[in-house]
Amino acid sequence: MRKVHTLGLLGTGVIGGGWAARALHFGIDVIAADVKPEMEEWIRGAVANAEPALARLTFAPLPPKGKLTFTTDLKVMARQADFIQENIPEQLPLKQRMLAEVSRHAAADVIVASSTSGLTPTDLQRDMLAPERFCVAHPFNPVYLLPLVELVGGEKTAQATIDASAKFFTYIGMHPLHVRREVPGHLTDRLQEALWREILHLVNDGVATTGELDESIIYGPGLRWAAMGTNLIYHLAGGESGMRHMLAQFGPCLKWPWTKLEAPELSEALIDRMVEGTQAQAAGRSIRELERLRDDYLVAIQQVLRQYNIGAGATLRSLEERLYQDAAAAHAPRGDGPAKPLRLVEAVVRPEWVDYNRHMSDFRYGQVFGDATDALFRRVGVDEAYRDSGRMYYSVENHVKHVGEAKAGEPLYVTTQVLAVDDKRLHVFHRMHRGRDDRPIASAEQMYLHVDTRAAKASPSDARVRAKLEAILGEHAGLPRPPEAGRSIGGVRQA
Ligand SMILES: NC(=O)c1ccc[n+]([C@@H]2O[C@H](COP(=O)([O-])OP(=O)(O)OC[C@H]3O[C@@H](n4cnc5c(N)ncnc54)[C@H](O)[C@@H]3O)[C@@H](O)[C@H]2O)c1
Repeated sequence: MRKVHTLGLLGTGVIGGGWAARALHFGIDVIAADVKPEMEEWIRGAVANAEPALARLTFAPLPPKGKLTFTTDLKVMARQADFIQENIPEQLPLKQRMLAEVSRHAAADVIVASSTSGLTPTDLQRDMLAPERFCVAHPFNPVYLLPLVELVGGEKTAQATIDASAKFFTYIGMHPLHVRREVPGHLTDRLQEALWREILHLVNDGVATTGELDESIIYGPGLRWAAMGTNLIYHLAGGESGMRHMLAQFGPCLKWPWTKLEAPELSEALIDRMVEGTQAQAAGRSIRELERLRDDYLVAIQQVLRQYNIGAGATLRSLEERLYQDAAAAHAPRGDGPAKPLRLVEAVVRPEWVDYNRHMSDFRYGQVFGDATDALFRRVGVDEAYRDSGRMYYSVENHVKHVGEAKAGEPLYVTTQVLAVDDKRLHVFHRMHRGRDDRPIASAEQMYLHVDTRAAKASPSDARVRAKLEAILGEHAGLPRPPEAGRSIGGVRQA
């Protein structure tokens, strides 16, 4: 299977738009095809709407954004794409026809996946030219923020297709869940459907309103579900003896009429009750407004979960590790030459990085200089494994000096000079340059102290790390000392 540079989308509605936003954000080009030409404007709007929340998801260095093109010609899309994701309406004959057509125009090593919420892959791949390269890849709305994607193979799907799809989706920050046996509704929609049918019964029987039922989730189980599923949570509900005790205690309820599961008749009266209930909950807020609110809290939740390295937070962490590694690899040493400060970070000032003056905000300087230090750390072996071993450099002093500005869209790069190293301390000097004219716009002088993180005390760094830092220090020994180094605020400018 080929490396994915361009994602092809068939169908650019809610889900197609979400796929586009996610892929573009992580540097993948997108060619989107829809029968309706007016969907071009729609998908561009959907991508723009997703951007503010996506932009806050991670501060890890991102590759340049992908490019979006649109076509109404499926063949053009299928010929250019390295991976094709179908997102047309949930109708089996339509999907079968379009997937068969796509399969005739896609290159021989291109995977075709379907976003179907519940159709089974064996049915969908029936008329395709290369059914072994087809699978279901079921995402969740909003696709650009929720990492889950269910991967389901049909009778003719090759395991290599599942493996390569999982690799691609991981690359764009997702959590592929392999559904090992195809069943209508896959896994998640079956669970959601069970809850949904019960909701419809409770509303239909006049037991509760839509708002009351949503309260019953968001103040309770919903909070738990963000990081532990029903099973692990019920294991905790059983006290010391866990699930066994929980089943003994609540087992008899399984015979009680606590759920109906068969959906009620969708009568006009029930539809009205559901619509009126949710309108009351929306309290005059538009769908767009509610979407923004939802996106903001989804970002915040994932950032909190990242601290605990659990659930979607663990997915975010491993995405960030990969982004940092890619950034470090992009700036790996390129052979001998006269000693120069290291060029470890390149970035483009993203639109959300600028403040009311339309220049890059103060804290973004800190972020970019931090990325440069991080890249230096990785180069000398201070990485996740090192951190996990209970050792790390902590920053103890940081002096940023501004001499110019950067506007949105400007390319930047940072050069880094190692000024001093001893068994516990690391003294570095970064200079940020504007890409278009190499003009320095800021510098940062930083002192780091090596710490035993478990004992919370300064400690000597690993000998191999120190040897690598000393080698860089040796290379930098002939460089002039930056005139700003050692200055404090208001200090006399040196010649
Ligand atoms: N909406 C969700 O929450 C959600 C979540 C996960 C998966 N899905 C699945 O994703 C798929 C798409 O759902 P959606 O909500 O984005 O639907 P949608 O109606 O918003 O978008 C469907 C798009 O497909 C286009 N289309 C229709 N026929 C086409 C054709 N022959 N060729 C090209 N384009 C065509 C339409 O013009 C439309 O833009 C469905 O299979 C659905 O089950 C939806």
